[in-house]
Amino acid sequence: RARLTVPALRRMKAEGRRIAAITAYDAGFARSVDAAGIDLVLVGDSLGMVCQGHDSTLPVTVDDIAYHTACVARGLYTALLVADLPFQADATPERALDASTRFLQAGAAMAKLEGAGHKLEVIRLLSEREIPVCAHLGLTPQSVLRLGGYKVQGREAAAARRLLEDAKAVADAGADALVLECVPSSLAAEITAAVAIPTIGIGAGPACDGQILVLHDLLGMNSGHRRPRFVKDFLADGGSIEGAFRAYADAVRSGAFPAPEHGYD
Ligand code: KIV
Ligand code: NA
Repeated sequence: RARLTVPALRRMKAEGRRIAAITAYDAGFARSVDAAGIDLVLVGDSLGMVCQGHDSTLPVTVDDIAYHTACVARGLYTALLVADLPFQADATPERALDASTRFLQAGAAMAKLEGAGHKLEVIRLLSEREIPVCAHLGLTPQSVLRLGGYKVQGREAAAARRLLEDAKAVADAGADALVLECVPSSLAAEITAAVAIPTIGIGAGPACDGQILVLHDLLGMNSGHRRPRFVKDFLADGGSIEGAFRAYADAVRSGAFPAPEHGYD
């Protein structure tokens, strides 16, 4: 297999081929995820929780993401690598450009950032400067203090309308993909139909163009935390770690995962 490119990712939506994505934080797991044929790997700022032991993503720094991106890049041969802009690294377009440049120089092919609003200006600058962008809407964990917790977003009619408008706006600003986290399945379906860029869901139901899960969640490593309803342990079926990644990829591509019970109304 050749390396998946950003235009090829966009073609997957047009051709109705579902995108299977997983987070990774080190070269060992990256190799295993890549060997299993996963399309897209994200160095998520979730590393603050699953690797560093914090209870939010807010403490994660640009240095942290750059370090883990370089580690993961050494383990990937075919998957598209995306790196998360951590809290406030996208507070201004210039800061985001500097951080994203470091991530691309460490081996990422795309930078991801949360939100719309003033972030539209950030998305515009990055894409003008040849940095592919993955947007992220719905539950944006960097907003946890304002939101007061990790809750499903877009349930009320006004909030759903705003999310749909934000999705169109990030696509218009130049985003190449869009993560939708913890939004009602029907709203994710509506957004997916309304934008030309691929949507990648987590807790956003089966209609998205792709799915992403945090590596540790997919392997059933949720000790100490209540398991959210969108998480499934693929290690039980997969029999081995690489088998779990293959079982997940197969389930995403066949449409078996997520099932309706993994989504929100
Ligand atoms: O940081 C992360 O792992 C993420 C995914 C859950 C989309 O942003
Ligand atoms: Na993230």
